[in-house]
Amino acid sequence: MPKYYLQTYGCQMNVWESGIVRRVLADAGFAETGDERDADVLLMMTCSVRSHAEQRALGRLGTFRSLRSERPGRIVGVLGCMAQRLARSLVSDHRADIVVGPDEYLRLPELIADVRAGTSGLVATRQTSECYDSVLPARGLSPSEASSRSAVSAFVTVMRGCDNFCTYCIVPHVKGRERSRPLAGIVSEAERHVAGGAKDITLLGQNVLAWRDGRRRFPELLGTVAAALPHVRIRFLTSHPRDLDAELLEAMRRPNVCPSIHLPVQSGSDQVLARMNRGYTREKYLAKIALCRRYLPEVSLTTDILVGFPSETEADFKSTLDLVEQVRFDYAYMFRFSFRPGTGAEKIEPKVSEADAGRRLSRLIEVQNRITAERNRELLGRTLMLLIEGPSPRDSGWLGRTVTNKVVIVKGDCAPGDLVRCRVERINGWTPVAEIPARAAAACSGKA
Ligand code: SAH
Ligand code: SF4
Ligand code: F3S
Repeated sequence: MPKYYLQTYGCQMNVWESGIVRRVLADAGFAETGDERDADVLLMMTCSVRSHAEQRALGRLGTFRSLRSERPGRIVGVLGCMAQRLARSLVSDHRADIVVGPDEYLRLPELIADVRAGTSGLVATRQTSECYDSVLPARGLSPSEASSRSAVSAFVTVMRGCDNFCTYCIVPHVKGRERSRPLAGIVSEAERHVAGGAKDITLLGQNVLAWRDGRRRFPELLGTVAAALPHVRIRFLTSHPRDLDAELLEAMRRPNVCPSIHLPVQSGSDQVLARMNRGYTREKYLAKIALCRRYLPEVSLTTDILVGFPSETEADFKSTLDLVEQVRFDYAYMFRFSFRPGTGAEKIEPKVSEADAGRRLSRLIEVQNRITAERNRELLGRTLMLLIEGPSPRDSGWLGRTVTNKVVIVKGDCAPGDLVRCRVERINGWTPVAEIPARAAAACSGKA
């Protein structure tokens, strides 16, 4: 049986898509190996969101090429977003044998066979408007079986692609148009994860709030999944601020929907937001934050922020810092703008120097880190219900997650999948540390 090795880079959606690839390859008689030296086919699932992500994958591709030269007949393939973006140049400049974009994974076995038969440098980057839900069953495969192993926390992709075309972003170009998966497939996939031991399910999409199935919209999907799995924590990621409304927040009042929202703001300046094509102003964003807090007083709010976007002035950056101080996000993912060829930002001037963007990023990280630490300190002395996900990689405890999506180090006797109620005793750096009182581990669910 031929063996393949698959390395996954990029976002959680790529992890899900790697599941599709595994399904397709297993069906074609391939076995997976975790040892690249043992593999006949070396594959990587890639990301294009920032130049750094591509550089990392291209570096790894060099290792794959050396492994290929050690064993004639070995095949090197690049999959995913960078495969879609760089296409033929991955063959001509980086000597990949196979290049497969996000809509073409079903063709992998055929492409591998063609390379074995002597044709090399095959590029499959046709984009479709279909979801894998409609094409996999025709081949006797189910997308809901894609992810075989269920962790305590599982992710279910509910929609692919994006129609927003924010001017910095490559995603709509490489992932194609928005496509929602049908409700029934999502629910059965979530149920399968739970049967396999999952206790926490995240519904995933570049803009989950754009999900639709006929007349159904995302709040209904959320309500349906939450009702079908009443003892499981339900989350979702990512929400576009423009699409967040009272109907969603109403659906989030269900007891097992987690009160945490990731709401990328990107910038606090109106002129930058307009040039980014984000579809909201600073004032509208702040109004949405206020709405979230009105409906869900305990809600935790996280965000993405981008600095150094073309035309961003020192005053624009100050507006971002000011917004961060005003909102007091629980956590933020912060990035320096990375130019992606073919995006709208190409025409926006003036560009911000690397030095200025770097300085702004450091300043922003400094401010947000202080706020993150302060928010975590608010947990001191509180009793929380924590879902144990696994051992803590850095010390002797366990990693537990709150309903508000905060990670807490837990000391005491427990196991992955346990729900434990315990008190935060101290803060280590900015990580809360809690201790389980003897014999307190209890299997129950609900918010705390
Ligand atoms: N769909 C999500 C985010 C997708 S990409 C949303 O709408 O918010 C994740 C984050 O990467 C973005 O929120 C943005 O902050 C960042 N990002 C996207 N393109 C980028 C680029 N060209 N340079 C730097 N950061 C970028
Ligand atoms: Fe990119 Fe904007 Fe779509 Fe998010 S909403 S994936 S940032 S284009
Ligand atoms: Fe990257 Fe593609 Fe995800 S560009 S962030 S892997 S959708």
